[in-house]
Amino acid sequence: MKKKVTSSDFLEILDEARRSPSAHNAQPACWSWNEADQEVTLWSDESRRLPIADPKGRDHEISLGAAWEGMSLAFSRRGFSLGRWQRLEGRSAAVAPQASRVPFGRSKVSVAEGPADSLAESALTRRSWRGRFCPPDAGTRDKISSLTKFPGVKILSDVSGIERLARDYRRAEFACMKRADYFAELFHWMRFRRSHRGYGVDGLSAATLGISSFEAFFAQFMMQPFLFRLISRLPGAAALFVPLPPLQSAAAFVLLSAELDVTPFEQGRRFYRLWLQIDQLGLHACPLSALVDNPTSIALVRQEFGLSGSQENAVQLTNILRVGVALGGVPADAGRLSTTQLLVQEGDSA
Ligand SMILES: Cc1cc2nc3c(=O)[nH]c(=O)nc-3n(C[C@H](O)[C@H](O)[C@H](O)COP(=O)(O)O)c2cc1C
Repeated sequence: MKKKVTSSDFLEILDEARRSPSAHNAQPACWSWNEADQEVTLWSDESRRLPIADPKGRDHEISLGAAWEGMSLAFSRRGFSLGRWQRLEGRSAAVAPQASRVPFGRSKVSVAEGPADSLAESALTRRSWRGRFCPPDAGTRDKISSLTKFPGVKILSDVSGIERLARDYRRAEFACMKRADYFAELFHWMRFRRSHRGYGVDGLSAATLGISSFEAFFAQFMMQPFLFRLISRLPGAAALFVPLPPLQSAAAFVLLSAELDVTPFEQGRRFYRLWLQIDQLGLHACPLSALVDNPTSIALVRQEFGLSGSQENAVQLTNILRVGVALGGVPADAGRLSTTQLLVQEGDSA
């Protein structure tokens, strides 16, 4: 068994770790590997923040946490484990050649004592599913109930509760989309045409949004900011841009919450683990961030999930996943930046 991770091993590990989810598939995490010290450093690519959709940088940090968890799982599959996490204070450490990249945290790597992490395999297959779900059978319901073993998880499987939250999600999401600055940022991350240079690399492609090439052809026009402004004023426009059936067909909405002192980074690690657990059960999922970002929605979420007591107010909502068995298809690959693009060469610092 290997005792050391070489730089070429690290490239293979990074190839797996880059599968972790990130808001808008912006992929803000990049990495460096110090072979002599057997140390991995996570960098934050500041140019991949979402200043309008995520002004406080919460989703950015959740995405970094998910990326770190992904790295830990990829090491685990090869018999290594990450040591104590050391948070780095951004710009005070060595500066990367790309000025937008700042060190975020690091850890030593050593030979693992126990077996591989049981969720490591799921990291290779998990993907977001934005289409409809199959009507849930008893087996699906049992699997979803088993998720309550996961700390901070609450399940909403009541059909009318799901319908109310789905409608509220549409209200909150469409209200954001109607803001010119929000829409411009979202549009920047949309990839409708295969000829787009970001298609299969980052952002949200037509395939991952669950729209056919035929629909994508029209969507690329409807989603032009000036046309969207006109169409969005028409009656029924919300239903066109945020359709309810994929949301309402979910077997359950699964809420993950955390105590108030848990950082977004740590929440990102837990969020990714929950999602992998869902994948391991043979189920599919997709986040519903608008429900935990919008104040009106947060109040409704607390009510629907029975989080209204004083003790229950002492938790923050990490995110909600709509969960079920994908109907009529498999989730499309969202595409990722290449390992070369994600690698930071510390030695070349400015
Ligand atoms: C913090 C966070 C928030 C997200 N919020 C949403 C969301 O509100 N709606 C959505 O459709 N996908 C959301 N996603 C899913 C990402 O868009 C998705 O992970 C990314 O496009 C990569 O695709 P994959 O999950 O198939 O690998 C979120 C992901 C993360 C990590």
